[in-house]
Parts: sequence; structure tokens; C-alpha cells
Amino acid sequence: MSDFEGLNEATYRQAGIVDEYAAQESLHEGEERLLERVGDLSGARMLDIGVGAGRTTAHFLDRVGSYVGIDYSPELVDACRRRFPGADVSVGDARDLSRFADGSFDLVLFSFNGIDYVADEGRRRVLAEVRRVLADGGHFMFSSHNRDYSRLGKLPWQDARPGRTMLKQSAHALLHTRRRREMRRRELVGRDHVLVNDNAHDWSLLTYYISPPDQVRQLADAGFADAECFDQWGRPSATDEASVWRHYLAR
Ligand SMILES: C[S@@+](CC[C@H](N)C(=O)[O-])C[C@H]1O[C@@H](n2cnc3c(N)ncnc32)[C@H](O)[C@@H]1O
Repeated sequence: MSDFEGLNEATYRQAGIVDEYAAQESLHEGEERLLERVGDLSGARMLDIGVGAGRTTAHFLDRVGSYVGIDYSPELVDACRRRFPGADVSVGDARDLSRFADGSFDLVLFSFNGIDYVADEGRRRVLAEVRRVLADGGHFMFSSHNRDYSRLGKLPWQDARPGRTMLKQSAHALLHTRRRREMRRRELVGRDHVLVNDNAHDWSLLTYYISPPDQVRQLADAGFADAECFDQWGRPSATDEASVWRHYLAR
């Protein structure tokens, strides 16, 4: 495990962050739009990776044929189990899905950019593992940060419009100056992506940002036959600078 992957994992085990996720329950607009494309889920065997405290469990548990959730944070898994005592949710790492047989799921979800907290080598393993456990004709739905986002890497005072929001975001960035400086040293530019410390969870994460054409290429390398890209709100779009993250639907 790389140094930054350990840091990201530690963040997802913190009590305050677990509480934040435990308070979330509705699907995002973009997720709703993509699901319209997936169609009928009534008999679907679903794997929900990076399930967190169960925001998506709340939506899918009673709608799919069978539901399995995994997350590498034991604290988040406990929170999810407290909310959904009967659900099949356990600790598991997306980079190693060996406990699941080939072709055993019709829908695999890795929501809310969970895949972006894994390093490049691990990400490629995740994509290959998801392809392996997905049945032919099944769907892989996920989101990932957008390298083309116009404000990527900028601090609030560098390009936000002056006003209350900008002041609030600037104060937040200043409050965490020390952590930002330390995390910044770990940022890197990879062959088709960048690792960036953004404002999520008080600047405590390093996040993988990738352009849609490169993401589609990674999916093809992992054996997906076709992949569609959407903006943050679920509208089909090949490229855009307005979305912090993008949604993908691959088969
Ligand atoms: C941004 S949170 C989203 C949580 C939840 N899906 C939601 O939408 O509320 C990302 C999630 O991915 C999980 N995660 C990140 N890397 C993972 C990995 N390699 N294996 C399993 N879970 C992982 C984190 O623990 C965290 O729960």
C-alpha cells in the first residue's frame, strides 16, 4: 500500500467522518439519471463497493434481487450495519474481490468517487476485478474526479467570485494551511491522471483526477466493451469543465 493510500484509509476511519456519512441517505441527481439507463433492477445481483455508512444501501436494498456491500473501513461498515442490521455488508477491499466468483453480479457500484482514493496501480486492479465479477451484459456504475475541472488545484481566493462563500472557503483553507502544505508535497502528476489534495474532509485526502477519454481508455484496458460518460448531474457529455466529478456507466 502506498503512503497516500494509508492516509486516505485512515481518514475514512475517523469518527467525525463516519458520522458525516451516516447522516446521508439520498441518491445524487447524477446517480438517479444513470439508473434510468440501467433499467429494471428487480432481479439484479448487486455489489456495492465503498458502501460507506449506507447512503446507497438505503436506496437499493429493497429494490434489487440480492445486495452485497463492502468497504475497507471497519468503522463505516459498523455504521452501515447499525442502520441496516439484516444487510450483507462487510469489510472488504475493492482491490481484491477474490471472494466473489467470476460473473457473479449484474450491477457493480462504486459511488461518490470512492475509486479515487486508491493509487494508480490499485485502481487498475479495481477495474480488472470489477470486470471479472461482472456478468456479461452487467453494468459498472461509478464516479471519479474530473481532471478538466476548471477550478482544479486553485485556492478559493485564486478564482472564486468575491462574496460570502469565497470568504468562508478561504477561511477554511487558511485554517488548514499546515495540513495543506504537508499534503501538497505528496501531490503528483501521473501518466494519465493527477493526485491532488482538495478541500474534502478538511484537506485530509489525496484524490485521483482523470480526464474522461483517459478513464474510458482505462476501462477498455480492463476489458469493458463500452463506456459512457456523464457530467456531475448525469447529462451525457464527453468533456466539460464545470463538473468536479463525472459519472461513468460501463458494460
Ligand atoms: C466518498 S466515500 C463514499 C461513501 C458512500 N459510497 C456514499 O456515497 O456515501 C468513499 C468510500 O469509499 C471507500 N473506499 C475507498 N477505497 C476503498 C477500497 N479500496 N476498498 C473499499 N472501499 C474503499 C471509503 O472507505 C468510503 O466509504
